[in-house]
Amino acid sequence: MIVILNFGSQFAHLIARRVRELGVRAEILPFDTKVAEIEKLKPVGIILSGGPASVLEKGSPRLDRRIFEMGLPILGICYGHQVMAHLLGGRVAKGEHREFGKEILEIKGKNTLFKGLSVKETVWFSHGDKVVRLPGGFRATASTKGCKYGAFEDTKRNFFGIQFHPEVTHTRNGKKILSNFVFSICRAKKDWQIVSLTKEIIAETKSEVEQRHVVVGISGGVDSLVAATLIHRAIGNRLHAVFVDTGLLRKGEVEQVAVYLRKHGFKKLYVIDASKPFLTRLKGVSDPETKRKIIGHTFIEVFEKAIKNELKKYPIAYLAQGTIYPDRVESASTSKTSAKIKSHHNLTLPEKLGFKILEPIKDLYKDEVRKVGLVLGLPKDLLWRHPFPGPGLAVRIVGEVTEERLRILREADAVFIEELKNAGEYEKIWQAFAALLPIKVVGVMGDARTYEYVIALRAVDSVDGMSADWHKISNELLEKISSAIVGKVSGVNRVLYDITQKPPATIEYE
Ligand code: XMP
Repeated sequence: MIVILNFGSQFAHLIARRVRELGVRAEILPFDTKVAEIEKLKPVGIILSGGPASVLEKGSPRLDRRIFEMGLPILGICYGHQVMAHLLGGRVAKGEHREFGKEILEIKGKNTLFKGLSVKETVWFSHGDKVVRLPGGFRATASTKGCKYGAFEDTKRNFFGIQFHPEVTHTRNGKKILSNFVFSICRAKKDWQIVSLTKEIIAETKSEVEQRHVVVGISGGVDSLVAATLIHRAIGNRLHAVFVDTGLLRKGEVEQVAVYLRKHGFKKLYVIDASKPFLTRLKGVSDPETKRKIIGHTFIEVFEKAIKNELKKYPIAYLAQGTIYPDRVESASTSKTSAKIKSHHNLTLPEKLGFKILEPIKDLYKDEVRKVGLVLGLPKDLLWRHPFPGPGLAVRIVGEVTEERLRILREADAVFIEELKNAGEYEKIWQAFAALLPIKVVGVMGDARTYEYVIALRAVDSVDGMSADWHKISNELLEKISSAIVGKVSGVNRVLYDITQKPPATIEYE
């Protein structure tokens, strides 16, 4: 496997994904991980990620120096390239201007890292500082107009530094560079393959759980569905699946997932209709954080009650969760926010219930979860559903949640998604949904004026939800969607398309 030390780059996850796409296991660890911890994983190479800091700042992140004595190949990217030069005796200085965007890299002579590339290559830069003197034993292997040491190497120790980002697609041959590092330099083996991985997870779950029973919460989403299916394959009907219907899910979601699970042999599926308590408690509440708290607490209460009532005769030892890799990996810049986002589902339950935790897909990225789902034979239309927040439609109704607003939003959202699917747009979009704005505006239908709600449509392109761009839907399709919503959903007389990026906006409306 390849270890990636994360210096706070928003691209650390991308590096790991690229390495895994090459068929090699990759793990992201915090930049200050000790050598002993790294050794336990038996990596064949180390990648130092980029990061927002400057090595010239006091207190900026450093790695354990003994990593350079492990005898492993090391590739430093951007900040990783600078920190490597700095710690090994080179010099880093502030650049006169920030290099940002595409640049032409000129490669000097033959070397393994750039094997198969042209003399001139388009690469993507994002940095302020640059290396101005190489450490002893290093030689420059590429430069750009503004950056003499755009890349360097010490072939004796197998250390490589590149100032640009090979993990982003703007670097045209970035994948080739990573492949050269992983295979020609680190000599890694291709053994990260989804079919064998799926079998391994099932076998591991079987041997861990033995004859005990497991409970899993089904949320309606992709992750819990794949996690539950894996465990069901391992232990059959000793898996108890509890599906809490909060009344805040998308149209037809509960039925679709429940019907599928029953059809595929889930004998112990408990669908709990809890829409009443959720709606009652949300009555009159319009503050978003209070809404989230109420939903979180109510969810736990209903889930616990279901376990006490329905499962008391079974020796339940584990609580299974659909936690995935980005949910748990410490990334210096994002860990706090992502931990908070999922807190009510992922963290509070096991503490209160006293079960051991089982997380069969905790090492996988979303696209890998979907591929495992395919190997398990799950249908594509269940696997390729867009992410959906824990508090559900409640955070897509701005202000108070009422039964009428839920009906309108659910219908409008279903029409929007159906139109996107019909037009072949749905799979190109990272997340799309409708939101309801709690104001009534004027319209005219027939001879009469109407005062009805506004529906805002959101569709975004993103990698991980941390930043997002609005998806460019054609005007014709937008018009079709707008007419379909106003025509089919009573209570709406106006449809808006949201063209804000994140940041400054967020994806959801609350
Ligand atoms: P924002 O709105 O913060 O959303 O740009 C980023 C991603 O996170 C999801 N999200 C949530 N997921 N509970 C969740 O489980 C929440 O409270 C929550 N709020 C936002 C959102 O759908 C998007 O994918």
